[in-house]
Amino acid sequence: MNWENTRSWFPVTREFAYLNHAGVAPISTRVEAALQRYSNEATRRGAFHYGDVYDAEIERVRRRAAQLVGADPEAIAFVKNTTEGLGIVAAGLDWQPGDQIVSCDLEYPSNVYPWWWLRDRGVETVLLPGRNGRLPLEAVDRALENPRTRLLALSSVEYGSGYRHDLAALGRLCRDRGVLFCVDAIQSLGCLPLDVAECNIDFLAADGHKWLLSVEGCGIFYCALPVLDRIRPRIVGWRSVTDNTDYDRYHLDLQPGAGRFEEGTPNTAGIFALGAAIDLILELGVGAIAERVLELTEQLSGELESRGATLLSPRGSGETSGIVSFRWADEDPNRTAGRLRQAGVFGAVRRGGVRASPHFYNDTRDLEQLLAAL
Ligand SMILES: Cc1ncc(COP(=O)(O)O)c(C=O)c1O
Repeated sequence: MNWENTRSWFPVTREFAYLNHAGVAPISTRVEAALQRYSNEATRRGAFHYGDVYDAEIERVRRRAAQLVGADPEAIAFVKNTTEGLGIVAAGLDWQPGDQIVSCDLEYPSNVYPWWWLRDRGVETVLLPGRNGRLPLEAVDRALENPRTRLLALSSVEYGSGYRHDLAALGRLCRDRGVLFCVDAIQSLGCLPLDVAECNIDFLAADGHKWLLSVEGCGIFYCALPVLDRIRPRIVGWRSVTDNTDYDRYHLDLQPGAGRFEEGTPNTAGIFALGAAIDLILELGVGAIAERVLELTEQLSGELESRGATLLSPRGSGETSGIVSFRWADEDPNRTAGRLRQAGVFGAVRRGGVRASPHFYNDTRDLEQLLAAL
């Protein structure tokens, strides 16, 4: 793969060493062109060709999203963000008082608050303690032994430490214990391979604006078809039902697939963007992207360590991701990130560390710019 060529799709590289794909990513010129295609259509023809242009693209992108995670397109719904997908699960399962949800204290708030919100229904959320940015599998195993545990909710990659969970192993534990498995995949989808069937994932949600390199406000939600009927949609509307363009006949026969969770008019512009973004990822190949990103993060970690930085991200085999978190000597990480920003290096500060998160189009020059700025 000639990664150098991919750089030309990201004009942001002319101005910055953009190392914040774990935050909000820039879009490629390919996604920009898709948005222009949408706005051109909307401006010149409105909804005249709604079926041929909009509906056709929505269903094409659904199939591409399904391909990305190894799912049936029927199991994919478009959502406005990760939080909405997780909320569909939290609000929709038939919780009983005494039920337990297992997660961990390394999680982003959007994978904590929807579960805490169930407290007044007698549902308890156990946040297993992370250790050095990791969550030991044995701790999850023990927690799932509790017969009250109904759901395990974890991210594919932790937003602060960058720790990559072993989703296949976690999925096996869940299957063996009859526990539902819900994955917040926003910190890896588009950068690391993921197969929902291989990992026994029941629910997955990810917005498009990080590693997928799309715009904010349009993501995907996967619901395994065998558990679809266990979720009562928290909102239903005209688009939740079958034959939903027959507006004159009221009925509540829900769509057979996850489309039932799309209760009203979709974010068509966002779906156009997401489609172009997923096309690009699939074209390059998620396996090749993962190799490239892991190479860049390996290189960066090594260089940082050799210069005396303290790495906060686990670097063991199978634990690494697109995120490298570090501290620069005794300097406040906000100050370090501020200095980097002044030098045109865009990272972030999370969980007490400076977080750098390169994608495939970044290269050694970007990493060197960061190191020089330090
Ligand atoms: C792990 C994780 N989940 C969720 C989100 C954000 O979710 P949403 O798409 O709902 O804004 C973030 C954003 O930083 C995140 O890191």
